[in-house]
Amino acid sequence: MLKSHTISQIDVLSGKSSVDIEGLRNDIDDWLNSATQTGSYDPLTELYEGASDDSFSPKSIIIDKLIEEIQNEFISTTGLRLEHVDHWIHVHHKNMSTEVHNHYPYDVSGVFYVTIPEGSGSIVFLPSHNKYHPQRVPFVPEEGTFLLFPGVLDHTVTRHQSEDKRISISFNFKIINQD
Ligand SMILES: [Fe+2]
Repeated sequence: MLKSHTISQIDVLSGKSSVDIEGLRNDIDDWLNSATQTGSYDPLTELYEGASDDSFSPKSIIIDKLIEEIQNEFISTTGLRLEHVDHWIHVHHKNMSTEVHNHYPYDVSGVFYVTIPEGSGSIVFLPSHNKYHPQRVPFVPEEGTFLLFPGVLDHTVTRHQSEDKRISISFNFKIINQD
Protein backbone atom coordinates (compact mmCIF):
# COMPACT_ATOMS: atom_id res chain seq x y z
CA MET A 1 0.00 0.00 0.00
CA LEU A 2 1.43 3.39 -0.96
CA LYS A 3 1.36 6.41 1.27
CA SER A 4 -0.55 9.36 -0.20
CA HIS A 5 0.61 13.02 0.10
CA THR A 6 -1.96 15.57 -1.05
CA ILE A 7 0.01 18.57 -2.28
CA SER A 8 -2.48 20.74 -4.09
CA GLN A 9 -5.96 22.14 -3.86
CA ILE A 10 -8.11 23.84 -6.48
CA ASP A 11 -10.51 26.57 -5.42
CA VAL A 12 -13.34 27.80 -7.61
CA LEU A 13 -14.59 31.04 -6.07
CA SER A 14 -18.17 32.21 -6.53
CA GLY A 15 -19.77 35.57 -5.86
CA LYS A 16 -22.80 37.68 -6.60
CA SER A 17 -22.48 40.99 -8.36
CA SER A 18 -24.45 44.13 -7.56
CA VAL A 19 -24.10 45.66 -11.04
CA ASP A 20 -27.15 46.79 -12.99
CA ILE A 21 -27.84 43.54 -14.83
CA GLU A 22 -30.77 44.96 -16.83
CA GLY A 23 -28.54 47.80 -18.04
CA LEU A 24 -25.88 45.26 -18.94
CA ARG A 25 -28.39 43.20 -20.95
CA ASN A 26 -29.40 46.35 -22.81
CA ASP A 27 -25.76 47.16 -23.58
CA ILE A 28 -25.22 43.62 -24.91
CA ASP A 29 -28.46 43.68 -26.94
CA ASP A 30 -27.42 46.99 -28.49
CA TRP A 31 -24.09 45.45 -29.40
CA LEU A 32 -25.62 42.26 -30.83
CA ASN A 33 -28.01 44.33 -32.95
CA SER A 34 -25.46 46.90 -34.01
CA ALA A 35 -24.22 47.34 -37.55
CA THR A 36 -20.62 46.98 -36.38
CA GLN A 37 -21.12 43.30 -35.74
CA THR A 38 -20.15 42.28 -39.25
CA GLY A 39 -18.20 39.10 -38.49
CA SER A 40 -19.46 35.56 -38.77
CA TYR A 41 -19.96 33.52 -35.66
CA ASP A 42 -17.94 30.34 -35.19
CA PRO A 43 -19.81 28.09 -32.73
CA LEU A 44 -16.72 25.95 -32.10
CA THR A 45 -14.41 28.70 -30.94
CA GLU A 46 -17.25 31.05 -29.97
CA LEU A 47 -15.43 33.83 -31.75
CA TYR A 48 -17.00 36.41 -33.98
CA GLU A 49 -14.47 36.14 -36.81
CA GLY A 50 -13.80 39.40 -38.53
CA ALA A 51 -15.49 41.49 -35.90
CA SER A 52 -13.32 44.16 -34.36
CA ASP A 53 -12.15 43.81 -30.78
CA ASP A 54 -14.37 46.66 -29.76
CA SER A 55 -17.51 45.00 -31.01
CA PHE A 56 -16.49 41.68 -29.53
CA SER A 57 -15.80 43.16 -26.11
CA PRO A 58 -18.07 46.16 -26.17
CA LYS A 59 -17.23 49.14 -24.04
CA SER A 60 -19.62 49.27 -21.14
CA ILE A 61 -19.37 51.20 -17.89
CA ILE A 62 -21.30 48.35 -16.29
CA ILE A 63 -18.69 45.79 -17.38
CA ASP A 64 -15.96 48.09 -16.04
CA LYS A 65 -17.79 48.18 -12.69
CA LEU A 66 -18.18 44.40 -12.73
CA ILE A 67 -14.43 43.96 -13.29
CA GLU A 68 -13.68 46.32 -10.41
CA GLU A 69 -16.08 44.43 -8.17
CA ILE A 70 -14.45 41.10 -9.07
CA GLN A 71 -10.97 42.54 -8.38
CA ASN A 72 -12.12 43.88 -4.99
CA GLU A 73 -13.80 40.62 -3.97
CA PHE A 74 -10.75 38.63 -5.05
CA ILE A 75 -8.27 40.70 -3.08
CA SER A 76 -10.42 40.60 0.05
CA THR A 77 -10.72 36.80 -0.21
CA THR A 78 -7.19 35.86 -1.27
CA GLY A 79 -5.02 38.94 -0.59
CA LEU A 80 -3.98 38.90 -4.25
CA ARG A 81 -4.40 41.76 -6.72
CA LEU A 82 -5.76 41.01 -10.18
CA GLU A 83 -4.91 42.88 -13.35
CA HIS A 84 -7.64 42.64 -15.97
CA VAL A 85 -6.29 41.32 -19.28
CA ASP A 86 -9.37 40.84 -21.44
CA HIS A 87 -13.00 39.86 -21.52
CA TRP A 88 -15.47 38.74 -24.16
CA ILE A 89 -19.10 37.86 -24.47
CA HIS A 90 -20.38 34.35 -25.12
CA VAL A 91 -23.78 33.79 -26.65
CA HIS A 92 -25.08 30.24 -26.76
CA HIS A 93 -28.04 29.50 -28.99
CA LYS A 94 -30.01 26.27 -28.78
CA ASN A 95 -27.84 23.11 -29.00
CA MET A 96 -24.56 24.98 -28.64
CA SER A 97 -21.92 23.87 -26.17
CA THR A 98 -18.27 24.71 -25.51
CA GLU A 99 -15.45 22.21 -25.97
CA VAL A 100 -12.96 21.44 -23.22
CA HIS A 101 -10.40 24.22 -23.00
CA ASN A 102 -8.45 26.27 -20.49
CA HIS A 103 -7.19 29.84 -20.31
CA TYR A 104 -3.47 29.19 -19.84
CA PRO A 105 -1.23 31.25 -19.47
CA TYR A 106 -3.56 33.54 -17.52
CA ASP A 107 -3.47 33.17 -13.75
CA VAL A 108 -7.15 33.60 -13.03
CA SER A 109 -10.15 33.36 -15.31
CA GLY A 110 -13.75 34.05 -14.62
CA VAL A 111 -17.26 33.93 -15.97
CA PHE A 112 -20.23 36.17 -15.19
CA TYR A 113 -23.75 35.00 -16.00
CA VAL A 114 -25.87 37.66 -17.67
CA THR A 115 -28.89 35.74 -19.01
CA ILE A 116 -29.53 32.14 -18.06
CA PRO A 117 -32.84 30.75 -19.33
CA GLU A 118 -34.18 27.40 -18.08
CA GLY A 119 -32.26 24.60 -19.84
CA SER A 120 -28.95 26.49 -20.02
CA GLY A 121 -25.72 24.49 -20.13
CA SER A 122 -23.60 24.13 -17.00
CA ILE A 123 -19.89 24.76 -16.73
CA VAL A 124 -18.02 21.57 -15.82
CA PHE A 125 -14.49 21.70 -14.43
CA LEU A 126 -12.08 18.88 -15.24
CA PRO A 127 -9.03 18.97 -12.99
CA SER A 128 -7.06 16.98 -15.55
CA HIS A 129 -3.68 17.14 -13.83
CA ASN A 130 -4.83 14.56 -11.30
CA LYS A 131 -4.93 11.36 -13.32
CA TYR A 132 -5.50 9.22 -10.21
CA HIS A 133 -8.80 10.95 -9.52
CA PRO A 134 -10.45 12.00 -12.78
CA GLN A 135 -13.28 14.33 -11.88
CA ARG A 136 -16.05 16.29 -13.55
CA VAL A 137 -17.33 19.03 -11.30
CA PRO A 138 -20.40 20.86 -12.64
CA PHE A 139 -21.62 24.29 -11.53
CA VAL A 140 -25.15 25.30 -12.48
CA PRO A 141 -25.05 28.91 -13.73
CA GLU A 142 -27.06 31.55 -11.92
CA GLU A 143 -27.88 35.00 -13.27
CA GLY A 144 -25.96 37.84 -11.64
CA THR A 145 -23.26 35.58 -10.22
CA PHE A 146 -19.67 34.93 -11.22
CA LEU A 147 -17.10 32.16 -10.84
CA LEU A 148 -13.33 32.63 -10.64
CA PHE A 149 -10.91 29.77 -11.22
CA PRO A 150 -7.26 29.09 -12.07
CA GLY A 151 -6.63 29.78 -15.77
CA VAL A 152 -4.98 26.37 -16.20
CA LEU A 153 -8.10 24.51 -15.10
CA ASP A 154 -9.79 22.67 -17.98
CA HIS A 155 -13.52 23.27 -18.37
CA THR A 156 -16.38 22.72 -20.78
CA VAL A 157 -19.96 23.95 -21.06
CA THR A 158 -22.76 21.44 -21.61
CA ARG A 159 -25.36 21.74 -24.36
CA HIS A 160 -27.78 24.65 -24.24
CA GLN A 161 -31.37 23.41 -24.45
CA SER A 162 -33.44 26.57 -24.50
CA GLU A 163 -34.82 28.55 -27.45
CA ASP A 164 -33.65 31.67 -25.61
CA LYS A 165 -30.06 32.85 -25.66
CA ARG A 166 -27.63 32.01 -22.84
CA ILE A 167 -25.31 34.99 -22.35
CA SER A 168 -22.16 35.08 -20.26
CA ILE A 169 -19.01 37.19 -20.08
CA SER A 170 -15.60 35.54 -19.74
CA PHE A 171 -12.56 37.23 -18.22
CA ASN A 172 -8.83 36.69 -17.95
CA PHE A 173 -6.68 38.20 -15.22
CA LYS A 174 -3.04 38.16 -14.17
CA ILE A 175 -2.02 38.17 -10.53
CA ILE A 176 0.10 41.25 -9.89
CA ASN A 177 3.22 40.79 -7.88
CA GLN A 178 2.73 42.98 -4.82
CA ASP A 179 6.28 43.36 -3.56
FE1 LIG B 1 -13.46 29.22 -20.71
